[in-house]
Amino acid sequence: MKILVIGAGNMGLTYAQGMSKSKLLKKKNIMILDNSEEKLLELNEISHFDTYKQLKDCVPYADIIFIAVKPFHADALFKEIKLLANKNQIIISIMAGVNINLIKTMTGLPKVVRAMPNLPAKIGKGLTSYVASKEVSTVELLTIENLLETTGKAILVSDENFIDASTGISGSGPAYVFYFMQSMVEAAIEMGFSKDTSKVLVSETFTGAIELFNQSDLSLNSWMKQVASKGGTTQAALDSMEDNNVNELIKEAAFAAFNRAVELGK
Ligand SMILES: NC(=O)c1ccc[n+]([C@@H]2O[C@H](COP(=O)([O-])OP(=O)(O)OC[C@H]3O[C@@H](n4cnc5c(N)ncnc54)[C@H](OP(=O)(O)O)[C@@H]3O)[C@@H](O)[C@H]2O)c1
Repeated sequence: MKILVIGAGNMGLTYAQGMSKSKLLKKKNIMILDNSEEKLLELNEISHFDTYKQLKDCVPYADIIFIAVKPFHADALFKEIKLLANKNQIIISIMAGVNINLIKTMTGLPKVVRAMPNLPAKIGKGLTSYVASKEVSTVELLTIENLLETTGKAILVSDENFIDASTGISGSGPAYVFYFMQSMVEAAIEMGFSKDTSKVLVSETFTGAIELFNQSDLSLNSWMKQVASKGGTTQAALDSMEDNNVNELIKEAAFAAFNRAVELGK
């Protein structure tokens, strides 16, 4: 099986590196195409991938075409792919807001997978939600799951709407976590800690809390109750968040990302 990754940016390289570890692939079975000569030269020096500048030299030989360019490059790219691809090839697109119907129409290819990754894929801790057109077989779906899971977890969703919804939760989500962490770091600094100590206090707190949650069956609410006692310090913080409607504001933010993803899809 041969995979072509189009776009050697942040995400394209992350997936190329992840997928190269898959047992389904032999070395030299990942091709990468980018329109930057400089990037390709750099890539030739640091990786074992076959690099390409011209679509005609690689598209016809790929079983899977993984598209990782920015959405505004999609139109031009699809037009070129249409002239070179065949109907047995599978397209996996991670472009935000570019829907399956559009990809099918523009490329003329029926087998399309739309996936929404997130940034922790860079360290193998990503979450990719994905959905496929009905022309993708069950066996092909298993292969795709295996490839996507080389960068973390992959979740098959039942409907394309869930790709936009997961953009609002897992896709954009790492930024919400960083936002919360940033506020806590600022609070620690205002309390008199150095910047370095503040960062350690906050990041270890997040890591510890998440590990605790992941290693148990307890709900988030139960864990909150374990930290907070009536009239205590934690309860004072949680009461302050409730009084300020923080819960609703966070939900509103996630929906803003979801709605924006839907809007971009139009
Ligand atoms: N970053 C994230 O956290 C994240 C999360 C979810 C989804 N995504 C999606 O992932 C996709 C890629 O994002 P990214 O952050 O990896 O972007 P990026 O770092 O800008 O990488 C895109 C790469 O593709 C190249 N390129 C553009 N048009 C091309 C073409 N026609 N043929 C070959 N290469 C081309 C770009 O070159 P130039 O720079 O020269 O244009 C660039 O090297 C986007 O569609 C985004 O919506 C990203």
